[in-house]
Amino acid sequence: MTDDMKHSRLVFYVNGKQIAEQNADPEEMLLTYLRKKGGLTGTKYACGSGGCGACTVMVSRYDPLSARVLHCSVNACLLPIVSLHGAAVVTVEGIGSTKAKLHPVQERIARAHGSQCGFCTPGMVMSMYTLLRNKPQPSLEDIHEALAGNLCRCTGYRPIVDGFKTFCSISSELFHMDGVLPLDPSQDLIFPPELMLMAQKQDGGRLCFQGDRVKWISPGDLADLLELRAAHPDAPLAVGNTNVGPNMMFKGDVHPLIISPRRVLDLYTVCWEKNGVTFGSSCSLSKVKEELQGAVRRLHPGESRVFQALLITLRCLAGKQIRNMATIGGNILSADPKYDLSCILAAAGCTLQVVSKGTPLTLSMSATMLAHYSTHWWEFVSVFRQAQRREFAFSIINAGMKVVFREGTDMVQSLNVFYGGMGPPLLRVRRMSWNEGLLEEACSLLADEVALPPTAHGGKVEFRRTLSLSFFFKFYMQVLQELRQERLRHLYRSSYCALIIHHLSKTQMVSEIQSCEDPVGRPRVHMASFQQATGEAKYYDDLPAISGELFVFMVTSTRAHAKITSVDASEALRTPGVVTFLSAQDVPGQNRRLWFNNTEELFAEEEVCCVGQIIGAVVAESRELAKRAAERVLVTYEDLTPVFFTIEEAIQHQSFFNPKRKLERGNVAEAFGKVDHILEGEMYMGGQEHFYMETQGLIAVPRGEDGEMDLYVATQHAALTQEVVGHTLGVDSNKITCHVKRLGGGFGGKVMKIASLSAIAATAAYKTGWPVRCVLDRGDDMLITGGRHPFLGKYKVGFMKDGTILAADITYYSNGGCTLDESSFIMEKALLHMDNGYKIPNLRGRGFVCKTYLPSYTAFRGFGGPQGLTIIESVLHEVAAECGLPAEEVRAINMYSEEESCTHHKQLFCPRDMVRCWDECLEKSAYPSRRLAIQQFNRSNRWRKRGICAVPLKFGIGFSKGFNNQGAALVNIYKDGSVLVTHGGTEMGQGINTKAVQIASRILRVPMSRIHIKETCTGNVPNAAPSAASFGTDAVGMAVKDACEKLMERLELVMKANPKWTWSQWVITAAELYCTSRDGVTLAGRGETSRDVFMRGSHTSVDWEKSEGMAYYYFTFGACCSEVEIDCLTGDHKNIRTDIVMDVGKSLNPAIDVGQIEGGFVQGLGLYTIEELQFSPEGVLRTRGPDQYKIPALCDIPSKLNVHLLADAHNPNAIYSSKASGIGEPPVFFGCTVFFAIKEAIAAARRESGLSSRFTLSSPATVDKIRMACVDQFTEKIRSPEPGSFTPWAINV
Ligand SMILES: Cc1cc2nc3c(=O)[nH]c(=O)nc-3n(C[C@H](O)[C@H](O)[C@H](O)COP(=O)(O)OP(=O)(O)OC[C@H]3O[C@@H](n4cnc5c(N)ncnc54)[C@H](O)[C@@H]3O)c2cc1C
Ligand code: FES
Ligand code: FES
Repeated sequence: MTDDMKHSRLVFYVNGKQIAEQNADPEEMLLTYLRKKGGLTGTKYACGSGGCGACTVMVSRYDPLSARVLHCSVNACLLPIVSLHGAAVVTVEGIGSTKAKLHPVQERIARAHGSQCGFCTPGMVMSMYTLLRNKPQPSLEDIHEALAGNLCRCTGYRPIVDGFKTFCSISSELFHMDGVLPLDPSQDLIFPPELMLMAQKQDGGRLCFQGDRVKWISPGDLADLLELRAAHPDAPLAVGNTNVGPNMMFKGDVHPLIISPRRVLDLYTVCWEKNGVTFGSSCSLSKVKEELQGAVRRLHPGESRVFQALLITLRCLAGKQIRNMATIGGNILSADPKYDLSCILAAAGCTLQVVSKGTPLTLSMSATMLAHYSTHWWEFVSVFRQAQRREFAFSIINAGMKVVFREGTDMVQSLNVFYGGMGPPLLRVRRMSWNEGLLEEACSLLADEVALPPTAHGGKVEFRRTLSLSFFFKFYMQVLQELRQERLRHLYRSSYCALIIHHLSKTQMVSEIQSCEDPVGRPRVHMASFQQATGEAKYYDDLPAISGELFVFMVTSTRAHAKITSVDASEALRTPGVVTFLSAQDVPGQNRRLWFNNTEELFAEEEVCCVGQIIGAVVAESRELAKRAAERVLVTYEDLTPVFFTIEEAIQHQSFFNPKRKLERGNVAEAFGKVDHILEGEMYMGGQEHFYMETQGLIAVPRGEDGEMDLYVATQHAALTQEVVGHTLGVDSNKITCHVKRLGGGFGGKVMKIASLSAIAATAAYKTGWPVRCVLDRGDDMLITGGRHPFLGKYKVGFMKDGTILAADITYYSNGGCTLDESSFIMEKALLHMDNGYKIPNLRGRGFVCKTYLPSYTAFRGFGGPQGLTIIESVLHEVAAECGLPAEEVRAINMYSEEESCTHHKQLFCPRDMVRCWDECLEKSAYPSRRLAIQQFNRSNRWRKRGICAVPLKFGIGFSKGFNNQGAALVNIYKDGSVLVTHGGTEMGQGINTKAVQIASRILRVPMSRIHIKETCTGNVPNAAPSAASFGTDAVGMAVKDACEKLMERLELVMKANPKWTWSQWVITAAELYCTSRDGVTLAGRGETSRDVFMRGSHTSVDWEKSEGMAYYYFTFGACCSEVEIDCLTGDHKNIRTDIVMDVGKSLNPAIDVGQIEGGFVQGLGLYTIEELQFSPEGVLRTRGPDQYKIPALCDIPSKLNVHLLADAHNPNAIYSSKASGIGEPPVFFGCTVFFAIKEAIAAARRESGLSSRFTLSSPATVDKIRMACVDQFTEKIRSPEPGSFTPWAINV
C-alpha cells in the first residue's frame, strides 16, 4: 500500500464531543453525517446545494497564522466531513435546549414569533449564533449580512429580524424583552484544547480518505501539494468545495481523486505591500472582504477604488455561509462565467501568481491575484452586476470596467471593459475624450460586437445585451461625475439602501375586562416555537431509522408525450444494495383512480404525458444507492404527437379539461353599446413553485398484520392520503393510519401529490415487507409536484370618461398541465373573485383549464384567487391609464358601497369593512402626499423612477364545495388534569395548534401549558377536510370549542357541587364517578363542525348554470399600498414601503395573524416580481433549485412594512368573531401592489422617452421585463432576432 492509500483517522468535534472516524467517506457531507450518524436532526435538508441556509452550522478552527480561533457559519450540505479534520462543529442542539437551557438566540427568535413552520429556524439560529460568537454587539447591518444566506418561506423575515435586533438593543412592538435571557458568552462551548494543540503541532503529513468512489488527499504543505498536483494533473483541488461539490452532486462530474490544499498554510497568507495586496488562493471570500473593508477604512477614498468595487460585488455574492467556505482561488479558477470576481480583477489589471512544481509564474488577470491599489485620481474602476434577486443570487451578467486618463486631462489612455456571462472582453478604446462621442462609439461597438446568440444558455438575450450597454452608460456617467466633480442631474448610482429600516405591526388590543388567564386575543407564541428553535421539533424525516428501513427513489419520464416502449431495470437491480424496482405491475390494488371523472395513474403504464411523470421507483438500502440506481433504469420511448406546453398552444388545439365554467351578471353585450370607451387587452401571470422548505416525503411502516400500514407523512390532507394508499394497496382505510406531526411548510402543495408519493412508498413497503422512507430531492420535488397555475386573462372592458366601468368580459385560461388535479376548483375560485371589491354591473367571466403536456399544476395559497383578482386589477389599471385618471380614483369610483351589496354570483355581503380598510390604508400610507412626492422624484430623475399602487381586497373564505367545510376534534381530559386535543387540521406553521389550544384554554379555563396537541392522526379524527382554503382554524377551532363545551357541560355537575375545588379535583372526581356511578361523565369530548352546527343551517354551493350561489362563509377584507423604485437602466427594483390594513375580525392571536399577513404578502412579492419558472422548448423544467429559482430573501422585503389589523372589526360567522384563519391566503394577492407600482414607474420612464404609458407587462415583473419595458436609446440599439428563426432557451407556458 502506498503512503496515500492508507486510511487516515479523521478527528473532529461535534457539540463538544470528539468524533474519530476510521473510514470516512469523501462523498459524505456533514449534513447527512449529522442527521444519520449523529442523530442531530436539528440541521435540516432543504436544497442540498448551498442555496437556502437550512443546514447552517458553526465550524470553528484554530488559525495558527493569527493564533486565534475562527468561527464561521457554513452550509453543512456542501461540507465533506473529510475536510473537517481538526475542526469543531456546533449545531443547533449544541447551544441550548428546552430541557436544559435555551440559548438567547433560540429564545428570542421564538418569542418574537420568528418561527412559523420552523423548518428554517435552526439555520437562522445558527447564522445568528455565529455572528454573536464573533461580535456580541452586532449592528443591524451585521444581522442583515449574517441572515442574507438563509431563506424562510413563511414569516416574511420581519419577526426574525425583530427578535435578533434586540441584540443591538432595538425593540419592537409585538415582542417585549421582559424577562428574556441575557447573552452570556461565558456559557458558550469552548474550542476543544486538543484541537488547538493539534493545529499548533502542525503535523505536515498527508491525510488520505478513501470512499467507495472517491479518494481525498490532503497534503500538509506546499511542496507536497505541488508533488501531488504534478502526479495527478486531472484531480481538482477542493478547498471550499462550493464548486466541485455541487458539480459532482448535480452535474454528474466524477472525480476518483480530489486533492485538498485546505491544510497548506502558505495558501492562506495575506500580504499587504506598497502597491497592493496579495491573497493566498485559499483565503475565503469572507476573509478577502474583511481585509478590504479594513483597507477602505484606512486609505484615502481615491486610493481604494478597486477595493470599493470589489466590496460592492462581495456584498451580494452568495450568502455569508458560502463566502465563509468559498475561496478566492476557487472563484477565479472555476472559470465560470456566472462568477463575479474575474471581471473586476481583470479590469483592475490584477495579476495572478501561479506556482507549479517548476518555476512560479505571474499571469495578468486580463488573461486570467493580486488586487492592487488604484492610487491615481485619473484612474477609475467600477463593477456592475445584475441578478434575478438583489442579493444571494448569481449575476445574469456582471462587468468590471477601468479607464485611465492621461494625467490632468479627460483623454482616455486606456479603457478596459470585461463582461461575465457575455463572452470575451471586447472594448478597448484609446485616445478619445470622455464625452458623448466616446459613449456613442462605445455603445455602438458593444451593440454590434457583444456576441450572444439568440439561443444562448440562460436566455434573456436581448436583456443581457442591453445590460452591457446600460452598465457602460452607468460607468460613463460615474466617471463623468468624478471628472467634473459636480452633481449630475440624473441619478444613476446604485444607491439602494439595503438595510431594513423600519417595520411596524399594529395589533388589536384585548378588552380590559378580559381575564388575564384567558389567552384568546393575545399574541401568544406559536406552541412549538421553542422546540423549533432548538431543533427538537420533529418533522417526518427526523424520525430515527427503523431497523431494516429502505429508501425509495422515483424514476421519472424524460419525454413530454410518448409511448413507453420498454423499461429495463436490470442494471439498476444489479447495483449492490438495491432491493427491488417498482412499476404499475407491482401495485397490489389499483394503479388508476378516478378523480372527478378523470383518470390518474400512480405509475405511468403505457404513455407518459409530461417530463417528470413517475414511471417506476427503485427501492434500495440507502438514499444515495437508490438515487444512483434510478439513474440506471433504462426507459425507451416512442414520441407521440401532439405535444405542446403553452396556454396559447392549448387554445389552438382546443385542449381543455371539463367542466368549463362561466359566471355572468347583467347584460354585457348590451352594456358595451352604452359606454364611452372600450378597451381590449390581456394579462399573463406566470406560475409559482411552492418552495416549502421541507421537501415532500414520508415513511411507510408495514405493521405485518392484516395489511395494516402506518404512514408518517407530511400531508395537508391526511384523509385523502389514507384513502389513496388504501385504494392502491387494495386495503380498507381502517387499516391505514396517517400520522402528521407537523409540516415544514405546505402552502397547498402538500394536498394532492403527497397522496401518490405515499401510495408508492406504501407499495414498496408492501412488496418488501420493510419500512420505506421517501424524501424528495429539491430538484425532483420541483419537477414532480407542480405549483401555482399560470393564467392568461383576455379582457374587453367598457367604461365611461370618469372611469366608471359598466361592462367587462373576461376569459380566463389556466395551464392545468397533464392531469386535472384541483385545476377546475382553482378556476372556479378565480371566477368567483373576478369582481374583487368592484361593482361592475355587467360582468362576464369564462374559465378554461388548458390541458397541456406539463406536470400537473395544483393548489397553492390563494387557490386561483390571486390570479382572478390580479386580472381584474389589471383591467382597472388600464382603464385609469386610458382615462388619464389616478388609478386610486378609478378604483374608488367602482367600489362596492351599499350596505347590502351583492357579488356577481349573487351572494349578499356588507362591504363596510372593505371600504374602511381602503380608507385607512390610504390615510396611513399618506397616499396623496406620497403620490405628489413621487411625481416630483420622477421629474428630477431620468434613470430612476418610482411608482405607487393601492388595491382593496374582498376574499371569500371557506370551500365553495360545502362538504369540505367541516372540522372535527377530540378532546381528552386525563385524571391529572392535563388535556390532549386532537383535531383534523395539520400544523404547517399557520398556528392552527396554538389557536386550538387558546380556544380550549378559554372554554376549559385551564392554562395553555396543561393542554397538548400531539399529532394529527386519521385513527383519532377520521375523514377530516384538508387544511386549506384559509379555513382550517375556523373549522377546527369551532370543533375544539364544541368538544370542550360538551366536556364542561358534563363537568358542571361536579363543579357546581364543589365550587371551591381545583380543576384537578373536579377532573379526578368526575373520572372516578364515571367508573363507579351511573352519574359519572366521560372525559373524552368529540366536537364537530358540520355545516349545520357551524353555519346555523346555511350551506355553501354555487349553481354554475344559474351563475349564483353562496360560495363562501364570509369575506375577509383588506387593502394594501406599495411604493417601489426602479432602475430603468438595469431593471432592478427596490421595495420602498408597503402598508397593509387587514380585517381579521377580532383576532384570536394578533401575532400569528400579523405573521400570516406578512408571510403571505412576501410570498406574493415573490410571485409578482422575482419567482420565474422556466421550461425548455421540450417541456423540461429548468428551474429546479434555489440557484435558478429565487424566492424572496431578506433583501427583498420593503424598507418599511406596516401592518395594521382593522380595529372594531367583527365576524358573526366564525369563532369568537374572528376571521380565524381567513388571513392565510388573501395577503398573497397584495404582492400585486408591487407589480402595479413597478408598472407605474415604468410608465413614467416611457413617458420620458415619448412613449405611451399603456403597455403590456406580464407577471412576474422580473429585471429583464422591467428593463426592456423602459424603452430608450440603449434598448433600441439591440436588434431582436426574427421570432421563429431560432429555438429559445426557455418558453412562457
Ligand atoms: C449557493 C452558491 C451561490 C453562489 N453565488 C455566487 C455568486 O453570486 N457570485 C460568484 O461569483 N460566485 C458564486 N458562487 C460560487 C462560489 O463563489 C465559488 O463556488 C467559489 O468561489 C469556489 O471556491 P471553492 O474554494 O469553494 O472552490 P472549490 O469547489 O473547492 O474548487 C473550485 C475549482 O477551483 C480550483 N481551485 C481551487 N483552488 C485552487 C488553487 N489554489 N489552485 C488551482 N485551482 C484551484 C479547483 O481545482 C476547482 O476546479 C456561489 C456558490 C454557491 C454554492
Ligand atoms: S440544505 Fe444546505 S443550503 Fe439548503
Ligand atoms: S418558518 Fe421559515 S420556512 Fe417556515
